Amino acid sequence: MLLPLRLLRDRWPTWLERTADRFVWSDPSVITRPDVTSERFREAMSAIHVGGTIKITSSDRHPEPDSLLIDHVDTTGLVIADVGASDGSTSLDLVRRLEGFAGYVISDLFLEISWARAGRRTVLYDPAGEPILLTGHRFLAWPSISRVIRTLVGPALRRVGREPRQPVTLLNPEVVALLARDPRVTTREHDVFTEWPDPKPDVIKVANLLRRLYFGDEDIARALRALHASLAPGGHLLIVDNSREPGMPPRGGLYRREDTGFALVAETPNTPEIGALVLGLDAAGASKTPEA
Ligand SMILES: C[S@@+](CC[C@H](N)C(=O)[O-])C[C@H]1O[C@@H](n2cnc3c(N)ncnc32)[C@H](O)[C@@H]1O
Repeated sequence: MLLPLRLLRDRWPTWLERTADRFVWSDPSVITRPDVTSERFREAMSAIHVGGTIKITSSDRHPEPDSLLIDHVDTTGLVIADVGASDGSTSLDLVRRLEGFAGYVISDLFLEISWARAGRRTVLYDPAGEPILLTGHRFLAWPSISRVIRTLVGPALRRVGREPRQPVTLLNPEVVALLARDPRVTTREHDVFTEWPDPKPDVIKVANLLRRLYFGDEDIARALRALHASLAPGGHLLIVDNSREPGMPPRGGLYRREDTGFALVAETPNTPEIGALVLGLDAAGASKTPEA
């Protein structure tokens, strides 16, 4: 984002909002409201930048990649971990399609942030207490991704900074309801670069997190080694990406954990962006250079 500043929807004359449509966003501070709808909550995720990534997600985002798992693995009695699940909307999609699983862990490095409000201004803070998003009456701005913006909104940040902070979940209201009614579904804060503690899951899904948009190949290989170490023997890794290439459907790859790396089980017709990195991984050492 060149200039991390946008206009808030329904706060400007209609003609202006229509003309500048791309720069007009719905208010993401709705996540702090107890009556927020699941749709508005999901939409707000596009505005939340944390840890160098964006929490952007949507419903029904990976139907074909999810089918790879359903068609090739009998998930009866298995534990599935969804790493980098954002607000859990895509976890909910997969849970609805699975039968007989023993556990489904909705996991992300950021499951909760905090917020404070002064008048019409709301600031969202990351877990380290850094301001990541400011919404006012007419604008929203991302102080964490631009020094210029941080200086511009400095007085507002200081004003809101004097108010008490409150925690807010980043889990979608529909997911919170699922957690309450299905004891097999749980959550865990987890960093994809670290090994999952015992007991190891049988399947790990990672969608739209290990992207070249966010990480270099060395870091992606480091995460893949951690994922290899995190899986139970013979477990499966499902990698998904929703490419920005026009007309490109969601891409997915299902890989089986073997002693030294991953073996291909199935891929969508278009190989996921990091498919070659997964298959080229030497789990004990550095990633082999994948063929183009
Ligand atoms: C683009 S979202 C993908 C959400 C969902 N999987 C989907 O495909 O719609 C990336 C998610 O990864 C999370 N994330 C960022 N760094 C992470 C890390 N090191 N470990 C685990 N999750 C991380 C972000 O908080 C965010 O929710």
